[in-house]
Amino acid sequence: MTTQTIAKGKAAVQTREASAPTAAASSEVAVKPINRREFLYYIWGASIAVFLAQTTGAIIWFALPRFREGEYGGIFVVDPATVPAVGASPVANPTGKYWLSHTPNGLVALNMVCTHLGCLFKWVEVNRRFECPCHGSKFGEDGRYIEGPAPRNLDRFAVRVTTPTGVIESDANGSPVKIDGAVRIEINTGKKIKGASIGQA
Ligand code: FES
Repeated sequence: MTTQTIAKGKAAVQTREASAPTAAASSEVAVKPINRREFLYYIWGASIAVFLAQTTGAIIWFALPRFREGEYGGIFVVDPATVPAVGASPVANPTGKYWLSHTPNGLVALNMVCTHLGCLFKWVEVNRRFECPCHGSKFGEDGRYIEGPAPRNLDRFAVRVTTPTGVIESDANGSPVKIDGAVRIEINTGKKIKGASIGQA
């Protein structure tokens, strides 16, 4: 073995000895417990996450309808047997704030509030129309404007009719819905459909 070879061997041993503490140090870093700053950082992150979750939950809760069935703003279930016959006088539901009117074209639920300045109109049987006592606006049985200062037809609530063959719902105009064979009728007082302005009806 030459002197040069011995020198190389010594150098290799020294290199291994020098690198051994580095490996030990890196394994120490891997298992090192979190320090106070890191702990506070994680707590802060968790607090932000909880805050965001609570905020999101609150937004969703407020966005969801909070009206119960049978409350104004919610769904009113109507027994099909109690719906007035076609052409019969409309029936008022004061709790739901609507008139149920069965026209030859189908069923409509009319908002009880006049589209002029908000008075409560009445059905006048002798004239077969709705008349407002405040300023004299008049509307047909389906809520169409006839005369007076009101600027538009009566507003309607969405109607949903369930039959053995399917479901029929009000269109965007709140057009009358046929109820032949209905097993369930729902009036959604949370979904008001604005009456068409005069000249657009
Ligand atoms: S509030 Fe009905 S006509 Fe004025």
